[in-house]
Amino acid sequence: QGSVYEAGLRGEKPSIPYSYEAWEELAHEKLPKTSWGYIHGSAGAGTTDQANKDAFKRWGIIPSRLIPTVRPDLTTAVLGRQLAYPIALAPVGVHSIFHPDKEFAVAKAAEEVGVPYTMSTASSTSIEDAAAANSNGERWYQLYWPQKEHDSITKSILKRARASGFTALVVTLDTYILGWRPCDLDTGYNPFLIADTTGVAIGMSDPVFREQWAADHGGKYPDDESQLKESAPYWDRVVFPGVSHSWEDLKFLKENWDGPIVLKGIQTVRDAKKAVEAGMDGIIISNHGGRQVDGCVPSLDCLAPIVDAVGDKLDVMYDSGVRTGSDVIKALALGAKLVFIGRPYIYGLAIGGQEGVKHVLGAILADLDLTLQLSGISSVKSQDLNRDCIQRIPT
Ligand code: FNR
Repeated sequence: QGSVYEAGLRGEKPSIPYSYEAWEELAHEKLPKTSWGYIHGSAGAGTTDQANKDAFKRWGIIPSRLIPTVRPDLTTAVLGRQLAYPIALAPVGVHSIFHPDKEFAVAKAAEEVGVPYTMSTASSTSIEDAAAANSNGERWYQLYWPQKEHDSITKSILKRARASGFTALVVTLDTYILGWRPCDLDTGYNPFLIADTTGVAIGMSDPVFREQWAADHGGKYPDDESQLKESAPYWDRVVFPGVSHSWEDLKFLKENWDGPIVLKGIQTVRDAKKAVEAGMDGIIISNHGGRQVDGCVPSLDCLAPIVDAVGDKLDVMYDSGVRTGSDVIKALALGAKLVFIGRPYIYGLAIGGQEGVKHVLGAILADLDLTLQLSGISSVKSQDLNRDCIQRIPT
């Protein structure tokens, strides 16, 4: 992350700007309406998305002085893995609508920066191809869990992900149907059909639909995806709508995944405790960046009570609304062990492909490093960064 910051100090005029607001603006300029609506849009009136960002403003960092700190220690241990930084890439679907280098650019950038890449089930590349682009990286696989009658597909996905070196499984629990998203409804965009950067459907997201399509059509997914056109409504047979799973069914995933399992989308202490009972290794406190339930409680407000209830039993991680280094600090101070970045890196992808993603991650890490130093916090470990470092700002 040093080079991003040093280039700024040397007064070099950057090809990519440094603030979240500028990334958002530039991505808006570059992207066609459909892609922009999908990334920028939220559920309903966008209330939850806004609330996620506002929640960070209600906490202030309290700097301490004359603490000998040369460079803060940013390393962290999560899910039994040693990580260089306390941030990771949140799973985001269909990168092909943001940049022609799609998941390859993101997987490679994550590897080069040294942060975990979480691959979405709704990706526009195969599991194997994304893994090859991240061969020396830390990679986790996010599962949109197919309905029970498709257990064989789930098994196949898990097998392929494990064989491709994905170490942790992230199971998203909040998206068994898509939220009410006016932006996507206006453009007629369905993220479970792969589109090119102009929004034209060119195939199905891998692997759930591809596998089912292949199984139903003689075992082979077509090389020429135009053959899929007539099967456009096909997708809702496989994952959506509704949920057929219960907490009991997590046993199935445990039996079929030989590695840590993380539940994404937890918002309540009750569900966090159920995750512990089910033998999960981690949870991600998330409301999907405000894309599912409009008028939902801000994700940040759910964090501390959950950490207090189960933080010593599994790894509590966080996403939704993280935009800057100080946001990362606040989530860590409230007890998260790892913080996922969502929209910002996709704006980087839209602006500059692999380099754009690297730039955004480098900027957030440089900001984190500097803000820790200026706050007198010498590491991201809980003995140095905890609730004593922040205070509630009265509203
Ligand atoms: C997402 N998110 C998401 N989550 C998931 O588990 N699987 C997925 O395929 C996707 N796809 C997706 C697409 C887009 C365009 C966005 C913006 C988000 C949710 C994501 O992992 C994360 O929870 C949020 O992005 C975090 O909120 P912020 O950082 O975007 O505010």
